[in-house]
Amino acid sequence: MSIIIANWKMNLGLNESVSLASSLKDIDYDDKEVVICPSFVNLIAVGEVLKPTRIKLGAQDCFWEPRGSYTGEVSLEQLKQVGCEFVIIGHSERRQNLGETDAMVNQKVKAALVAGFTPIICVGETHAQREAGETDDILIKQTTAALEGVELDSKKRIIIAYEPVWVIGTGNAIKPSEASAAISVITKALENLFSAEQVKNNFSLIYGGSVSSSNISSFSREKNISGVLVGGASLDAEEFINLVKNF
Ligand code: PGA
Repeated sequence: MSIIIANWKMNLGLNESVSLASSLKDIDYDDKEVVICPSFVNLIAVGEVLKPTRIKLGAQDCFWEPRGSYTGEVSLEQLKQVGCEFVIIGHSERRQNLGETDAMVNQKVKAALVAGFTPIICVGETHAQREAGETDDILIKQTTAALEGVELDSKKRIIIAYEPVWVIGTGNAIKPSEASAAISVITKALENLFSAEQVKNNFSLIYGGSVSSSNISSFSREKNISGVLVGGASLDAEEFINLVKNF
């Protein structure tokens, strides 16, 4: 089943979030899984709107400790109580702007799996790293570090989003063949950590970075891309509904 994840980032207020969620009821799911990730403060309200639908709820981040004196942080238990099943971890905007490290990403991934969440782990190179020919090394390093010490069983599911940092929010996606090649590199890194069967059964590999309703079908045609993480194009109901339809 393909998966389409909307990352609303910090773009919408409460009323805007409720209104956008309400207009997504006409989504043509077919065999697709759709996940919406609003800001923390809007999770409850958006969750209420989405309850009668098949759309699932995700958070944009989490903290790894279950409870305690961690001012400003939000635990996985708190997220579970408001209906979240998915959590984005290690988005490049957090790695770049907030100093989130591979070690922090790893702690969050492990905590998310223990709490029964599906983590959506973001990996990807900057433009400078790509220019320096470091893309594959970065993908292998980030993937391996994020999953250090992770033990899988048949129920655990992990999504890895390949997001070239320099493409996010630009309106210019990379070529689907380039996304597919990067996803092959990530798959090989996974096969060094887990059995081929676990990689096939427990992981979904998706692409993110300037995906729109008009370029989505070129990504869905790539055999190893099983979904997308969408920022800007998820903020407009008609655009997002078309995007889901065209996957
Ligand atoms: P974009 O964002 O679709 O606006 O490029 C993607 C993301 O940051 O996940």
